[in-house]
Amino acid sequence: MKNRIAIAGFVAALSIGAGMRIHGQGGLTGRWVSRVPNDDGTVRETVYVLNQQGTTLTGSIVFPGAEQPFVDASANGDSFSFSTAPATNPRRTVYRGTRTGDTITITIVRPGRPDQEVTADRGPDSAGRAPARIEPPALHPVPDNGLARTPPMGWNSWNHFKAEFDDATVRQIADAMVSSGMKAAGYSFVNIDDTWELGRDANGRITTNRKFPNMKALADYVHSKGLKLGIYSSPGPATCAGYVGSYGHETDDANTFAQWGIDYLKYDWCGAGRIYKDSEMQAVYQKMGDALRATGRPIVYSLCQYGRQDVWTWGAAVGGNLWRTTGDISDTWDSMTRIGFGQDEHGPFAKPGHWNDPDMLEVGNGGMTDDEYRTHMSLWAMLSAPLLAGNDLRSMTPETVKILTNRDVIAIDQDALGRQARRMHQEGVEIWKKELSGGAFAVGVFNRGAADATMTLHCGDVQLCGGYKLRDLWAQADRGVFDDRTTVSVPKHGVALLRLSR
Ligand code: GLA
Repeated sequence: MKNRIAIAGFVAALSIGAGMRIHGQGGLTGRWVSRVPNDDGTVRETVYVLNQQGTTLTGSIVFPGAEQPFVDASANGDSFSFSTAPATNPRRTVYRGTRTGDTITITIVRPGRPDQEVTADRGPDSAGRAPARIEPPALHPVPDNGLARTPPMGWNSWNHFKAEFDDATVRQIADAMVSSGMKAAGYSFVNIDDTWELGRDANGRITTNRKFPNMKALADYVHSKGLKLGIYSSPGPATCAGYVGSYGHETDDANTFAQWGIDYLKYDWCGAGRIYKDSEMQAVYQKMGDALRATGRPIVYSLCQYGRQDVWTWGAAVGGNLWRTTGDISDTWDSMTRIGFGQDEHGPFAKPGHWNDPDMLEVGNGGMTDDEYRTHMSLWAMLSAPLLAGNDLRSMTPETVKILTNRDVIAIDQDALGRQARRMHQEGVEIWKKELSGGAFAVGVFNRGAADATMTLHCGDVQLCGGYKLRDLWAQADRGVFDDRTTVSVPKHGVALLRLSR
């Protein structure tokens, strides 16, 4: 680049190469790297990309899985501030910083949280850049792997533990799955979610961080209990928690997982959004579907891309056994009901081997009442959803165990017909109906209101007239014959789950 700079009365033509800086001008301009160690031996890298022109500042924050442009930024000499959300957003995070030499210090200000200080050092031009794009493959149908003829049942680490778990925790969870009676009730998968990863060795093989010293040995242990082991990765260069993903190593990772003895893979979009458009998701997911199939090992394939791109219409075609239909659940009545009661339209896409996944269970995590957890379990069973407990199985209340192991309720979820319930009625109470094998039906009467309710269920409400035998699945009691009407009492935020058979 040719720059003409006036210096002390004469004009010099100066050639500046890309990457060189003019000191005293735009001193903030650069790629600033902050590296914060995690407890497991990995390092979380965040890159602040700053471009300073006088008092004008533009740029972005590059988190491991995503890049967020500044929307509101300014500079004053070596001081600056920016945000990634407009001032109208009451929850926005504001970053205020100053530069001293080749280090910037940033105070992160979030509403309702203590301020946090980070430092970042001037990094190379490559810092935080996404790797080169690899073209996604052309579409073709991936043959059905024959697995998950009923919705998968098991446990997953994320909801309760996030990153705070390790090999010993997973072994204890496997033990507890057996000793609590969950295994006998049908639970079998012990699924490790994000934060087990370290990096790649010289051969491109993915490695585990110090929380998981030997994944093969862990799989052997879980298998010795008659259970199965699941793992997690992303089609992107980074996972949602910022750990290494499978991008460009899909075959390597599928082979590694198979060698370790992995039985289930949750494949989470996250960092893939830095490389691919949402419209390319199907091809990207197909790539891992093919790679898993090529291993020859039966591995349940769980797609996690939050229900974008109408995944229920193509999840099965990429070899998927289940696909998330929503964003992340949290342990609240609002989150659980917003997700659970929002699933009606996906119903027709559920079938043996291929399930809608409204996310993992929160039962037993403490944020809801037992009535609310019974609603959660009932709704998931009606939806033919995967039943992946998300609590600490080592310390469950007797009521939590009863909710998670109610055989009658589990049988609704695991019914061989594989139909998903549909909503029949929404005012006052919600009534959902699920067709079961052998000419039977399940009916859920859900009270979303703030007061206990007694209601009369007419056979016409559910189009099940003509003398069905009635069983109340939470009371575990037969209730005679349902001719024309029956009275149902439902506590606030509770459910009456009924089975009707001839
Ligand atoms: C996403 C997923 C979660 C969990 C986390 C892990 O948010 O939706 O279920 O896997 O990533 O980082």
